[in-house]
Amino acid sequence: MTAPAILPSVAGLRDAVSIWRAGGLPVALVPTMGALHEGHLALVHAARAHGGRTVVSLFVNPTQFAPGEDFALYPRDEADDLAKLAAAGVDAVFMPPTEAVYPPGFATTVTVDGVSAGLEGAARPHFFAGVATVVTKLLLQCLPDVALFGEKDYQQLIVVRRLVADLDIPCRIEAVPTVRAADGLALSSRNAYLSADERRIAPRLFQVLSGMAAALAGGAAAADQIADGTATLEAAGFTRIDYLAVCDAETLEAVDRVSGPARVLAAAWLGETRLIDNVPVSPAGRAG
Ligand code: PAF
Repeated sequence: MTAPAILPSVAGLRDAVSIWRAGGLPVALVPTMGALHEGHLALVHAARAHGGRTVVSLFVNPTQFAPGEDFALYPRDEADDLAKLAAAGVDAVFMPPTEAVYPPGFATTVTVDGVSAGLEGAARPHFFAGVATVVTKLLLQCLPDVALFGEKDYQQLIVVRRLVADLDIPCRIEAVPTVRAADGLALSSRNAYLSADERRIAPRLFQVLSGMAAALAGGAAAADQIADGTATLEAAGFTRIDYLAVCDAETLEAVDRVSGPARVLAAAWLGETRLIDNVPVSPAGRAG
């Protein structure tokens, strides 16, 4: 096991990437905020499958947290993250200090209209500008051939695809399926906030989404499924539901009845912890 190179500066990252590229090796980037779990490691494994060099960025991006959100509390364990990345065979870890990403005088924000507006964008209006800005920066700092994002943050994946296309960033965006615990709960760094009781209830979210997806695939109306799903989540102990929606898988526009690839997406609270999840819906007889 070789320890990955730790790269704190953009210049160091660019040097490493240009040497690899001159050697004919493709470069894959996995952007993360640390607190790594098997979901992140699935992204790393998919990155390594490209057969070139793999860079993981570790940066808890302050601009995607609103004042009063969990930026200060967000789980951080650098030593554990680095040990996991070394074991996973990562070549380099880009760990910029905040000033390298947001130097004094920084005044540019990337906003993505349309696909950013609903769902997470409605519940957390600051969020996607922060994500789009930092992802744009990370892609331009690293200039990877491919960058990998988890389907767990499905809307983020769609927003990133949009900005890469709109800004002509020469990088492929690859989606990696959500990794789940044995009981179905989507892995997330924020699961660490759940109490034992909340952790017991949490898998209900995936169960409800999966039940809705099956009914929608069979032709059920979205409005009925959303009403039933909301009632079931509330009865299970979810304390607040930011959204439960059925959307077109590409445009994220709400659909009344599924006739092409779609997604059921939700954000719901258990006490102080906000969980998000989503599942695909494939209408009968079609791939989704
Ligand atoms: O999904 C995340 O961990 C973050 O939103 C990302 C893409 C690393 C940007 O900070």
